[in-house]
Amino acid sequence: MKESRYSASDSIGLSLAAIEQRLDHWLPLASERERVSLAMREGALAPGKRIRPLLLLLAAHDLGDTPTTNGTLDFACAVEIIHAASLILDDMPCMDNAATRRNQPTIHRQFGEPVALLAVVALVSKAFQIISQAEGIDEKAKNNAVNELSQAIGLQGLVQGQYQDISEGHQSRSHEAITLTNHYKTSTLFCAALQMAAIAAGASAVVREQLRHCSFNLGQAFQLLDDLSDGSTQNGKDPHQDRDKSTLVNVFGTQKTEKQLRDHLDVADHYFTQACPHNQQTQQFIQQWFKQKLATLR
Ligand code: IPE
Ligand code: IPE
Ligand code: MG
Ligand code: MG
Ligand code: MG
Repeated sequence: MKESRYSASDSIGLSLAAIEQRLDHWLPLASERERVSLAMREGALAPGKRIRPLLLLLAAHDLGDTPTTNGTLDFACAVEIIHAASLILDDMPCMDNAATRRNQPTIHRQFGEPVALLAVVALVSKAFQIISQAEGIDEKAKNNAVNELSQAIGLQGLVQGQYQDISEGHQSRSHEAITLTNHYKTSTLFCAALQMAAIAAGASAVVREQLRHCSFNLGQAFQLLDDLSDGSTQNGKDPHQDRDKSTLVNVFGTQKTEKQLRDHLDVADHYFTQACPHNQQTQQFIQQWFKQKLATLR
């Protein structure tokens, strides 16, 4: 297989290609009989936006990471694989009961619920294996990365977010309660992505704290964009999944949600500038990315 070594100065397109190639390396095509492997690969490699691994690579570059190995790219793959696992789980009948994801039938519809569940567990395990084997990254950095990623998944992360969503999402909720759920279900993984970028780049504790604030706001903005897109048929997923849910859009309307989204982006931008005053490739990417997505909502 061709080496997919990521160069920090690569364009977004090349970085995306490097992510896809490295995911393909970590989740190789299996035989038809290996249903769990096939489900893992399909869940992770089906075309997604790859926003979290892209942000990780861009931020690492802005923070001065000059990779000579695939280590940072491996961190990026680990984050994307956790995201893929969270999507499989989120779509299952006991959660959002979704039929379509990334323009394909959801994983439990393709492979059945038992295989989908096993694929989730195996993907989570794979992500940590990838970190442990990340090329050219020292043991302490790998340990810190494991700490960040495990926090993003657990009871103070995705698990808590999904639990709050299924237990409270169909009742009326305050603005604060919705924001807290969004923090757990979405911001925590954005946080792990930027923290792992900082770890790969050897950033200071102060910078990591600024990036934590940045990613919390970025994750909020991202979830609000997702909620604003709920009626769209262009997302490759079931439209109107949130019909009976107390999302910010459904409770406070589109205008207020969009204003809130822009406020979160401004705060994220402020903290990124503090963390990284001289290199702003990440910020330019975020601004353009959201501008383009918001334009398609109109
Ligand atoms: C969807 O994430 C789940 C949310 C946190 C809103 P993405 O919108 O990044 O999904 P893909 O990876 O592009 O399919
Ligand atoms: C998902 O939120 C958050 C996850 C961690 C998967 P949603 O339920 O709104 O995500 P979509 O709209 O199904 O992608
Ligand atoms: Mg959900
Ligand atoms: Mg969902
Ligand atoms: Mg959604």
